[in-house]
Amino acid sequence: MALPLRRSVGNEGVRERLNSAWARTDEIFSIVASDQLNASPIVWRHPFLFYIGHLPAFSWNQICGAILKWESFNPYFDDLFCRGIDPDVDTGECHWHPEVPQEWPGLAEILGYRDNVRRALSEAVDALGRFASADVMAQQGRAFQMVLEHEFMHQETLMYMMQQLPFEKKRRPKLFPRYSFQRSPASRDIEVPAGKARLGAKFQDGLFGWDNEFEELLIDVPAFTIDSLPVSNGRFFEFVNSGAYDQEIYWRPEDWRWKNLEKKYHPTFWLKRDGDWYYRAMFDTFPLEHVEGWPVYVSLAEARAYASWVGKRLPTEAEFHRAAYYGPDGRESEYPWGNTPPGLQHGNFDFAAWSPVPIGSRPAGASRWGIMELAGNGWELTDTPFAPFPGFSSYISSYPDYSRDFFDGKHFVLKGASWATAADLVRPAFRNWYQAHYPYVFAKFRCVTN
Ligand SMILES: [Fe+2]
Repeated sequence: MALPLRRSVGNEGVRERLNSAWARTDEIFSIVASDQLNASPIVWRHPFLFYIGHLPAFSWNQICGAILKWESFNPYFDDLFCRGIDPDVDTGECHWHPEVPQEWPGLAEILGYRDNVRRALSEAVDALGRFASADVMAQQGRAFQMVLEHEFMHQETLMYMMQQLPFEKKRRPKLFPRYSFQRSPASRDIEVPAGKARLGAKFQDGLFGWDNEFEELLIDVPAFTIDSLPVSNGRFFEFVNSGAYDQEIYWRPEDWRWKNLEKKYHPTFWLKRDGDWYYRAMFDTFPLEHVEGWPVYVSLAEARAYASWVGKRLPTEAEFHRAAYYGPDGRESEYPWGNTPPGLQHGNFDFAAWSPVPIGSRPAGASRWGIMELAGNGWELTDTPFAPFPGFSSYISSYPDYSRDFFDGKHFVLKGASWATAADLVRPAFRNWYQAHYPYVFAKFRCVTN
């Protein structure tokens, strides 16, 4: 079942959606102190300044350049900011990207470029319809949905970077919600019988999707038992505190190698000071016990080790779909909770909390099996390598080969959403992907058995 684009009607609606996406982007960049825009708190990413230029460059290149063929007012910036980096964290190897300059251009110049592009895009909303017969991306608002989703994805990756920035180098947003702390309820075993799972989407349906979402794929999934709740900081602490986190028998050889090379003794968001454990949130540090009811954010490697310790494993992408979009009556739904569009009662996404919330605090978002938190409060790690579905073709995207560089066996699919994921991306076909040894993502997990 495909999700219609969440769109306001008409060109004015598209402009409104662009304006509200840009307002959030600007709010996010305003978190970083202006003298820190050259910082790269995650070594595998460019500095913040690059992304201020990258978002407009991508939008210009895809719409005004590729489709409308408008003459550029800054070809140098269009190229310089066209693509970021996302290297292999084990080898440092990176896909093609523009040469990194000795020095990035100044902030004022980049902001001027951004504003010019935003003005051009507002005009492009009216112009694009005339190209609908010649360009598939000009149909059904696809090109604008693409630049919006690209912006949303970067908003989240910027938050990962900001999470790693020291507190004194950033300031919290003006309307920062109160944190909430509660213990997590106990997880239950939920049995999901064998049945079909529908992954991806049909291009023919005419809705926007990234190249990796096509074509639709129906899979027979054997019966499995899944945790009703994701693993909390409290539960993961038992794993660390027992010493099992440091025992090789629970780790895959390649994961154990990474753990030792990176000298990892606990999740990236935790710290140990004078024998006491703390949790480092975006703007504050808490004693770990205060947030024991929040989901633990870990890499896939760490999640696999925990699952092995409890005698279970991580779900597959298809098992996630069975757990999220089906129910005991055998019928499929658009969302875990049914067919109502995503609202803040369903899950912690769309920057509602700017932090994790206690597990179980959005009961209206439970799937029809009674499985909670499948969409929101942290992406759900799966152990399915990120790979194309049968029928994959990059021609259906105006961003050719968007995904192909990442079909390398080292990236794995994540589903659902985190607190920093826009509501637009809470759609069943959307696939996120990260390397097993990338520990910065707001990613949680739960376990399954057969
Ligand atoms: Fe990008």
